[in-house]
Amino acid sequence: MKDINIPAPSWDSDLANIILDLEKLRTKRLGGNVPSHIFFQLKDIFHILETLGSARIEGNNTTLSEYVEKIIEKNTHDESDDEIKNLENAIDFIEENTDENTLFNRAFISEIHQILTKNLTPPPSGEGSKNPGELRVHNVKIKSSGHTPPEHFILREYFEKFIDFINFAHKEQYQLLMVAVAHHRFEFIHPFDNGNGRMGRLLNYAFLIKLGFQVKNGRIINPSSVFYTDRDKYYEMLSRADSLKSDDILAWCEYFLLGLKNEIEKIDSLLNKEYVKKQILLPTLVLARNSEQITDQEFKILEYLINKDDMAMKSEELSFLGITDSKKKAVVMGKLKDKNIVVPVTEGGRIYTIRFVNNYLLRGIMKVLKENGFVSDFLNNN
Ligand SMILES: Nc1ncnc2c1ncn2[C@@H]1O[C@H](COP(=O)(O)OP(=O)(O)OP(=O)(O)O)[C@@H](O)[C@H]1O
Ligand SMILES: [Mg+2]
Repeated sequence: MKDINIPAPSWDSDLANIILDLEKLRTKRLGGNVPSHIFFQLKDIFHILETLGSARIEGNNTTLSEYVEKIIEKNTHDESDDEIKNLENAIDFIEENTDENTLFNRAFISEIHQILTKNLTPPPSGEGSKNPGELRVHNVKIKSSGHTPPEHFILREYFEKFIDFINFAHKEQYQLLMVAVAHHRFEFIHPFDNGNGRMGRLLNYAFLIKLGFQVKNGRIINPSSVFYTDRDKYYEMLSRADSLKSDDILAWCEYFLLGLKNEIEKIDSLLNKEYVKKQILLPTLVLARNSEQITDQEFKILEYLINKDDMAMKSEELSFLGITDSKKKAVVMGKLKDKNIVVPVTEGGRIYTIRFVNNYLLRGIMKVLKENGFVSDFLNNN
């Protein structure tokens, strides 16, 4: 069996450009001035999108708008919640155990696989594994793919070559290409009975941390979750690379690294207060007012609130509306609280912030996120 090679892109190619752009992001500190009470809500929303994305991969036909209505009606708990919880735990594990010197050996990968598949039903019915953390002991097929992964009795050799490849000290200009090639090769080998897609996407995250990308800051999403949300293209590009020809591998690298670049740029925007205010929260309020989900007065209060530096306010500040009586102020704020569109920043506290998850503002947020390119189209196709 041959070693894994990285084909060299032409200096003139789009791929070379994408690599240069990503190299700039490698050292950049990502955003970071969004108040945490706003940031965590955005994070929740991205988890909703990730959940829906992964449910889609399994052929579930819920559309984004149906799912949003379910959340507003608060009846969403199902098995996919455990899958998402496991993914979060795996991300925690990676963040705690990865720095520029980390070796991604078999034990590391095995541990992540165990976390990922914990408490989930093994295949064919569920998203768990028959042998968590162990290489598969039977042959597998990949659903909706023409590729047949290596037979189980030669798997160990393939896997060891893979481990050597990802830990080799590649020259700087090949490091991002290594991540791209490694993702395809891991899926090509398909070392586990299930969870290979999730595992591969988490390995990308670990590689980015090792290479010095600031993706941990704020940790809004694993940038490679982008591949969840456009499954057809993702599968098509993986299939093409299955030929292992240099041209096809380079086409894969271009697709993969462009996806990561776009996603890292999005995360950067979402951590930026001005961006979140002007591009997301304000347009959401306008939508909610235009569709009469909030009144003019509510609009004014929420607009005032998000324009504040800390995106939070006390009911005393309602004087700006000409309300002087403190009882009246408390009543107005109390109504917003009852509608669940403001919540205290700290439990039982008197400083309030806007809430846009789990209430009808979520409809507007999703629409605005879609207009800003954060929601892949297929989530909305009926
Ligand atoms: N043609 C292909 N060549 C190589 N790998 C492929 C191909 N088509 C799909 N894959 C990979 O196989 C993964 C699915 O394998 P598996 O079911 O083990 O992973 P999973 O984590 O359980 O599922 P999912 O990725 O759907 O969440 C896909 O996510 C993709 O990464
Ligand atoms: Mg699976």
